[in-house]
Amino acid sequence: MSGAGGIGDPAGLSGVNGASGVEPVIELTDVRKTYGMDGTAVHALRGVSLTVPAGDYVAIMGASGSGKSTLMNIVGCLDVPTSGRYLLDGIEVEHLADRQLALVRNRKIGFVFQSFNLLPRTTALDNVELPLVYAGVGTAERRRRARAALELVGLGDRMGHKPQELSGGQQQRVAVARALVTAPSLILADEPTGNLDSTSSADVMALFDRLHAAGRTIVLITHEHDIAEHAERAIRLMDGRIVSDERDGSRGRLSDHRTEHRNEHRTEHRSASQGSAS
Ligand SMILES: Nc1ncnc2c1ncn2[C@@H]1O[C@H](COP(=O)(O)OP(=O)(O)O)[C@@H](O)[C@H]1O
Ligand SMILES: [Mg+2]
Repeated sequence: MSGAGGIGDPAGLSGVNGASGVEPVIELTDVRKTYGMDGTAVHALRGVSLTVPAGDYVAIMGASGSGKSTLMNIVGCLDVPTSGRYLLDGIEVEHLADRQLALVRNRKIGFVFQSFNLLPRTTALDNVELPLVYAGVGTAERRRRARAALELVGLGDRMGHKPQELSGGQQQRVAVARALVTAPSLILADEPTGNLDSTSSADVMALFDRLHAAGRTIVLITHEHDIAEHAERAIRLMDGRIVSDERDGSRGRLSDHRTEHRNEHRTEHRSASQGSAS
C-alpha cells in the first residue's frame, strides 16, 4: 500500500474531502464505550450518534467526566468503541486492528493537542515533516510540503527553531502545521488553547477560523465557551450522551463587540432554559 496516496495538498488549503467528497467525514451510529467489563463497569459513552459533513467546524463541550476524551479517542482512531458503528471518510474503522487503525489515523486525521506534543531538540521543519516520514513521502517532497504548511501558519521565518525557542502560541501553530501537512480529512483538536495565554489563544483560533474558511473539517474539544463560539456547531455531552447539538450560522463570524452581546444573550438563554451557570 502506497503511503503517499491521498496526500496531494501540501498547504492544506483546498479542504477537499479526499477521495470521497460526498461522504460525511464522521458518521457515528449508537456508539458505546464501557471501561472495565466486570462489576465496576463505567459507561463512558451510552449511545452516541453523530454525523459531521465535510467542511464542518464543530466544538464538543461537556463537564469533566462527560465522555469528551473517550469520544475524541474513538473519533481519532486511538481507541475503538465497545459497540456501535464508526465510519471515517466512508471507512468502517470500528473493527480495525491496531496497525490498520494507525494507518488510517496517519492518513485521515491531523491531531492538535493541548500540550503541543512537539519533539524537543527538533526543528519546527523536522517536526512538521514527521507525519510525512510515516506516510512514506520522499525527502524533497516532505521538505516542500512542510515549508508550505509552516508558511501557512505564519512561521515561515521560524522553520529552524526548536520548540523551546518558540512561544507557546508559536509551538501550537507548529503543531497545527504538522496536523495540516498530510492534508487530512479531519483536524481533531483537544483543548488546543488550554495551555495558551489569551493573545496566543486568539492567534491559534484565528488560524482554525481561516482553515475552516478554506474548507477544512475541524472538530475541537473545549470547555471554554469563548473558544466554542468560533465553531459553527456546538455539541454538548453529558454522562456519555449528546444532550444538545446546536448549529449557529453566525458563529465565529461576528466582531468581538457583537460577540460580547451575543454571549450575554446566550448566557441568559442558557440560564433560563437549563439553569446552567457558565
Ligand atoms: N481508561 C479508563 N478506564 C476506566 N474508566 C475510564 C477510563 N477513561 C475514562 N474513564 C471514565 O469514563 C468517563 C468519561 O471519561 P472521559 O471521556 O475522560 O471524560 P472527559 O474527557 O469529558 O472528562 C469518566 O467517568 C471516566 O472516569
Ligand atoms: Mg478529557
